[in-house]
Amino acid sequence: MNHIEDRINHLLGQMTLEEKIGQLNQPMIHGLPGLDLLRQGQAGSIINAFGALSGQGFDHLSSAEQCNALQRAALESRLGIPLLFGRDIIHGQRTVFPIPLAQAASFNPALVETINRIAAREASAVGIRWTFAPMLDIARDARWGRIAEGYGEDPYLVSRMAEAAVRGFQGDDVSQPDRLVACAKHYVGYGAAEGGRDYEQAEISEPTLRDVYLPPFRAAVAAGVGTVMSAFLDLNGVPATANRRLLTDVLRGEWGFDGFVVSDWESVGELVQHGVAEDRAHAAALALRAGVDMDMVSGAYQETLAGNLHRGLISRAEIDEAVRRILRIKFRAGIFERPFTDPERASRDILTHDARAFARQAARETMVLLKNEHHLLPLRDFRRILIAGPFVHATAELFGTWTMDGRAEDVTPLDRAFQDVAPSGVELWFAAAPDLALARAHYADAIVLLVGEHPARSGENANVSDLGLPPGQLEWITAMAAIGKPVVLVVFAGRPLAITRAVAQAQAVIYAWHPGIEGAAALAEILFGLAAPSGRLPVSMPRATGQAPLYYNRKPSGRPLIDDGPFRTRYVDTLTAPLFPFGYGLTYTRFTYSDLRLSSSRMRGALEVSALITNVGEQAGTEVVQLYVRDLVGSLTRPVRELKGFQRITLQPGEARRVMFTLREEDLAFTRADGSWGTEPGRFKVWIAPHCEAGLEGEFEL
Ligand code: NOJ
Repeated sequence: MNHIEDRINHLLGQMTLEEKIGQLNQPMIHGLPGLDLLRQGQAGSIINAFGALSGQGFDHLSSAEQCNALQRAALESRLGIPLLFGRDIIHGQRTVFPIPLAQAASFNPALVETINRIAAREASAVGIRWTFAPMLDIARDARWGRIAEGYGEDPYLVSRMAEAAVRGFQGDDVSQPDRLVACAKHYVGYGAAEGGRDYEQAEISEPTLRDVYLPPFRAAVAAGVGTVMSAFLDLNGVPATANRRLLTDVLRGEWGFDGFVVSDWESVGELVQHGVAEDRAHAAALALRAGVDMDMVSGAYQETLAGNLHRGLISRAEIDEAVRRILRIKFRAGIFERPFTDPERASRDILTHDARAFARQAARETMVLLKNEHHLLPLRDFRRILIAGPFVHATAELFGTWTMDGRAEDVTPLDRAFQDVAPSGVELWFAAAPDLALARAHYADAIVLLVGEHPARSGENANVSDLGLPPGQLEWITAMAAIGKPVVLVVFAGRPLAITRAVAQAQAVIYAWHPGIEGAAALAEILFGLAAPSGRLPVSMPRATGQAPLYYNRKPSGRPLIDDGPFRTRYVDTLTAPLFPFGYGLTYTRFTYSDLRLSSSRMRGALEVSALITNVGEQAGTEVVQLYVRDLVGSLTRPVRELKGFQRITLQPGEARRVMFTLREEDLAFTRADGSWGTEPGRFKVWIAPHCEAGLEGEFEL
C-alpha cells in the first residue's frame, strides 16, 4: 500500500462518523452558517460559485484571504483535514479565453491545454484548487444552451480536447500549488436533453451511449482526471445521480477511476423531485450507493446519512469508501502539505501580459471564416469602413457564459482594437444604433456588421426554441445589405445559430463565438489581414431550427437522400444538409488535396493513410486535415462518417506536405447489440478531407 493510502487509513481510523459525513458535504460559500461548521469538520469542500455570469448576485469574487480564513477554521477542527475549494473555472479565470465550443473550433488540443494551464494558475492564486471543468457533454442540439460549455458534437474531437483540458488543469503533478483538480462533467448524456431543454430527460441506446457519449469521459479518466460530476438528467429512466451501473460498474469497474464523484448542484436532493426517492434520506442513500461521494449543496448527506446507517440503508463501508476517495484527491492535490495560498500570488499570476497574449492567439485560432466572396477579406482598398451593429460597444458581452471572475474593464474594446490595426488613411466609423448606421452606410465603402447573442442567452438553462439571430438583427442586416455596399457579417454566439438568410445577404461571414477578453483585437487582426482565420466548425451549422438535432455522424437510413426524389429522408420546406458542415472553415489561402495513399488495401492491426496537401494560394495558411471512416456493412447500422484523426498544418504559398495518419483496428470497433465491443470484418471507406462532406476517398478491407 502506498504512502497516501496509509495516511488515509490512519485518518479513517481516527474519524468519527460525523467527521466522515462532513467530508462528503459541500456547502456553498454564501450559505455558510458560520466558521463553527468548519471547526467541527462538517464540510469537505466549499463551492464558491453562484450563477454563471460575472457580477451576477452576491459578491462573486474569490480571494486568497477569504479561502485562507476558511481554511484556518477547518484546520482548527479535531483532525485538521483541509478544505478543497471548488469554483467553475470554465474558460479562464480573470483572463477570459474563448468559450469551450470556440476552443474546439481550433482543432488544437495544445491550445486547450495551455488555456487551462493559465486558468489553473490564475484560479489557484485566489485559493481555488478544484474546477468544475471540462464539460464533456456531446451536444447535437444547438437549442441546448450549454452547447457553449463543451467541445461540440463529435466524440473523437471532444475526447482529444478532454485529455488536453485535464492535462492543462492538473499538469503532471496536481500537487503543485498552481494546478487545479479537474472535474469531468456532466456524467453522462446531459447534452441529449429532449428538445434541447436543460435538465430534461434523455433516452440513449446502449451502443450510442458507449460509442458517442461515454468516450470523452473515458478519455478524461485515462488522462487522470481527479473528479467526475454526476449529471442532473434522467437517463433512460434512471437519474444520473442514482445510476449505480454508470457511476460504479462502468466508471470505476471498467475504467479504473479512483478519484471521487461529486453530485451536481442539489442533484442528490432532487432525486425526490425525479420521483425515485421517497424523501431526502432515501435520496441520499440512493446517491451514495450509486457512487456519488460528495453532495454538492443539497445538504441531504449531512442531514440523513447517519440515520440511514442506523436504519441499515447504507453501510459503514460505503461511507468509508466515499471518504477514502475524497481524501485521496486532497492528498494528491497537496493541500495537506500546503493548505494556504500565498496572497502575493494574485498580483503576480493574474492577467499577465503572456496570458493576455495567449488569449488573443486563442481567439485568432477559434474564429471560423464561413464565406468570403471575391476575397472581400482581408479588408483592403476601402477608405471608409462603417462598423455597426449591437456589438459595437461590447465588452463583457464578448466573454460568453461562466465568467464569474471576468471584468468588463479588462476587455480590449472593439473600437480601440479596430483603430489599433486599421491601416493609416482608413477612416473607421462606428454606429451601434440602426438609424445612425443606415445613414452612414451610404457614405461608407464597406460595412462590418457585428451581430449575435448575448452571453446570458447561452449557457445553463438558457435554451432557445428559435436558433435564428435575436429579434431585430436580421431586419438590420437586410436593411444594411440593401444599400449595396460590401457587407462583412461577424457573429458572436455561444451556439451555432441558424443564419441562413443573414449569410445569403453578406459577402463575407466570420463566426467569432464568444471570443473572450482579447476577442476584439483578434477579430480586428483577422479583418485587416494581420492574422488569417483558422477555426473549423466543431458542430454542424443548421439552416433551420427544425433540423435539430443535427450532427454529421448520423446513421445512413434505408432511404437516404441521394437525389431529390420522393419518399426520402428529407424536409419539404428546407434541405436536410446543414448550412455549413462539421469541420468546415475557410482561410485566406486555398489548399488542394491529392494523391491519397493507403499502405495496404487490407488492414492488419493498423493502416497508414496519407494525402498530399498543397497551399495553392498566395499567402501562408493553416489547414485542419481530417481523417474519416465508414464501416460499410455492420451487424448494427454504422454512421455515414466518423472522425478518426485531424492535424493542423501551416503551409507557405506553393508548399506541399504529405499528411500521414495511422488508423488502428480499435478505431473501427463499435458496441454491438449484445453489448460486446469490437470490429467486424468487411469493407471500409476512408477519407482525408477538409470537412465531413468532402475529401479524397479510398477503400480497404479488414
Ligand atoms: C450547476 C451546473 O450544472 C454545474 O455545471 C456547475 O459546475 C455547478 N452548478 C456549480 O456551479
